[in-house]
Amino acid sequence: MSRRIGAAEIAARKGAAFPVVTAYDAPFARCAEEAGIDVILVGDSLGMVVLGYDSTAPVELNDMIRHCGAAVRGTQRAHVIADLPFGTYEASDELAVASATELVKRGRASSVKLEGGVNAAARIRAIVRSGIPVCAHIGVLPQTASLGSGFRLKRERERLVRDADAVAEAGAFAVVLEMVEDTLAAEITQRSPIPTIGIGAGPSCDGQVLVLHDLLGLYPDAPPFAKRYANLGEAATGALRAYADDVRAHAFPPARVKIAHDGNGYRP
Ligand code: KIV
Repeated sequence: MSRRIGAAEIAARKGAAFPVVTAYDAPFARCAEEAGIDVILVGDSLGMVVLGYDSTAPVELNDMIRHCGAAVRGTQRAHVIADLPFGTYEASDELAVASATELVKRGRASSVKLEGGVNAAARIRAIVRSGIPVCAHIGVLPQTASLGSGFRLKRERERLVRDADAVAEAGAFAVVLEMVEDTLAAEITQRSPIPTIGIGAGPSCDGQVLVLHDLLGLYPDAPPFAKRYANLGEAATGALRAYADDVRAHAFPPARVKIAHDGNGYRP
């Protein structure tokens, strides 16, 4: 029996303010869990903040499986949501179910997330029917934004309300609202039976999600709505500069440390 938080428990957080953060590896997923964040998103933002691509489009299913597995191994109770990357669910229900199954089977994801509203409802329904919980994602859709849907703040009320209703009806347990105008996000949050998780969508959403590397100051192109809580990028560069200076000055390693090797590992 799984000790992990299930999708139903997250759905029951409707009305509560809960934090979600992305993580892509074991150490940072562990930090998130130790900080009391029990919903972790292995987002396909992986492609930009970790793999160095300029969009999320090149991310492959195997990338997500590997990084989701790492985040799961770094945590004990957290619910780990894994993104279905671009091209792994749009073409058919069968493809969507097969890809979601791989994320659960090999990546040990607790649930999957996919982008789209009315147009994605059939895929959500098919994946949920296969037994895998789905988190939806409407508003700005980063996988296709640069192909036309755009990164601008979303204000089209009728369309977004229809999208929110469609994903809830299809069985999603929660919905990410990305870059949705604040009062519209508040209205959707009020009318939707499932928790909304906002990113750049104002303070009225049930949950909030941030990309880890934006929050920690590890990514130079953070969006304007992200809040930086630390500057680990600068701290890491400083530490590496100090190490490099030490090596160049013969200050590291110290001259008189003796290291013995006993065949099982190093000991002083
Ligand atoms: O990929 C991601 O990190 C996401 C968040 C921006 C919600 O989808």
